[in-house]
Amino acid sequence: MFIAKKKIAGKEYYYLQQSIRAGDKIKSKSVAYLGKNKQEAEKKAKTIQKQMEKKFTDDTTLKTKPLSIEELANFCKRKGFVYPSGEIYGGLGGFWDFGPLGVELKNNLKRQWWSYHIHQRDDMVGIDGAIITNPQVWEASGHVSSFVDVAVVCKKCGYKTKVDKHELESARCDKCKSEYENKGEFNPMFTTQVGPIKEEAIKAYLRPETAQLIFADFKLIQDNARLQVPFGIAQIGKSFRNELSPREFIFRCREFEQMEIEYFISPNLPCPYIEETKTVDILIYDQEMQKNKKEPQMMNLYQTFKKGIIKTDWHAYWIAQEFDWFIKLGANPLNFRARQHTAQEKSHYAVDTWDLEYKFPMGWRELQGFANRGNFDLTQHQNHAKTNMELLDTNNKKFIPHVVCEPSLGVERALLVFLFDSYYHDQKRDNTVLKLHPKLAPYKAAVFPIIKQPQYTALAEQIVKELREEYVINYDKSGSIGRRYARNDEIGTPYCITVDEQSLKDKEVTIRDRDTTTQIRVAQAKLKETLRKLINQEIKFTDAGKKVVTRVKEIQP
Ligand code: GAP
Repeated sequence: MFIAKKKIAGKEYYYLQQSIRAGDKIKSKSVAYLGKNKQEAEKKAKTIQKQMEKKFTDDTTLKTKPLSIEELANFCKRKGFVYPSGEIYGGLGGFWDFGPLGVELKNNLKRQWWSYHIHQRDDMVGIDGAIITNPQVWEASGHVSSFVDVAVVCKKCGYKTKVDKHELESARCDKCKSEYENKGEFNPMFTTQVGPIKEEAIKAYLRPETAQLIFADFKLIQDNARLQVPFGIAQIGKSFRNELSPREFIFRCREFEQMEIEYFISPNLPCPYIEETKTVDILIYDQEMQKNKKEPQMMNLYQTFKKGIIKTDWHAYWIAQEFDWFIKLGANPLNFRARQHTAQEKSHYAVDTWDLEYKFPMGWRELQGFANRGNFDLTQHQNHAKTNMELLDTNNKKFIPHVVCEPSLGVERALLVFLFDSYYHDQKRDNTVLKLHPKLAPYKAAVFPIIKQPQYTALAEQIVKELREEYVINYDKSGSIGRRYARNDEIGTPYCITVDEQSLKDKEVTIRDRDTTTQIRVAQAKLKETLRKLINQEIKFTDAGKKVVTRVKEIQP
């Protein structure tokens, strides 16, 4: 919530505003009138906020307290989402294995990203480059000489971290604000040898980002896919960085996955999609606010571009697009903000750089970067590889395409966002309910025979077989129905389908909704279609079948 000053007929009035989700968009609405005096308005706002927080914590279906990163890590291990890699040997810092549910969730997340960015657009194609490539790629890109950090250790508390070499003088310990001791420069690229005979082998690198092969392969991709500016090339894949101190579960890993886009234009080409940003509001934390120690402000993205806060229309557009992707998949918009890089952070060739940040339990942290790389990378490869990277503009003039925006997102960090924002402790059920969007949920449905007798299990197994042609289904036949509901609520299964006595007679089954516990009856023959509509959120749950009256009180979503 935030205070907004409104000018009406020349006079100033203060209102308490709240950001809300309206369909797919984020809008702000007035919650209360706070009067004409700024100080009184601030006092009133505090009281109202306290009252609303109390109501929030009183609601039995909401989170009781924020989950810490360690608690989430424990939950993920217990339920089979993520484990420390090779844990029986003590694990290895910064390396993680994804368990049976984790791999499904991660694949769903990547599939959703690929569909939204490539399949649903005309101007984007994807590639899948090699993890190890000719090392000259990394010399041309500047990674060998400049991808360098300085290792530092706090002189007082011993905290180990890395800092940018330009910020070494001013850097203070993140934990206790004391001075750091410089432990020297290091390059976080992992090296390896290509070729089994030592004398003939060449030194190569595990890629530290997916982006570079998009540049190295640029001419082939552009030609194969007959792309004309503006267009983008995307890639999802593993990246490796020998981080000095991997920490905070999967937030900072040594092996991770990136989902990256390089979006190319001819110089100064305006963004034809800028109007789409008019409906998107987000917390903005620009350079000025950071310099003057001011709080971030909820702003409309179109307005931030018009006012010159976000320097390019393309940046405003891509921040809106990426924010929209998270919100459409159920993330909480109030946990996001767009932060502008300060002059010290920005690369010398970048016009403007922003990060989409998320409010993790350990604080606001980078989730996704939006750099403007200009024509730096293509020029570097053109010069090093002696390969022409130019295209022709509409006047037949040659130009090297500019990367006007590089949205770059880590899969593991996106996964954390969806886990944090969907994790609820339901006091009524006295259980965890993972309210993952059905498109992300590892299992789309669970099927239960009400009792483990052949006539019930036979019908349940037939339904499982039919549904498995399209969906990942959990067949669960042991324990009480209540226990089976609880098990599936915990792992985010949105729909539980029960075969009961009535089903044997009328070939109808009960579907229970995870978030409300409402139940409906649906014909076996319509199950596949009903599930499809529910997962795609094309129908309301209560409109998908005949409502069942149960003794258990339903829960509001
Ligand atoms: N090609 C640009 C690039 O790689 P970056 O800011 O270094 O930029 C982009 O990384 C994103 O990759 C980050 O915003 C983050 O989501 C993810 N990422 C970077 N390092 C990571 C690490 N060690 N562990 C997990 N994710 C990481």
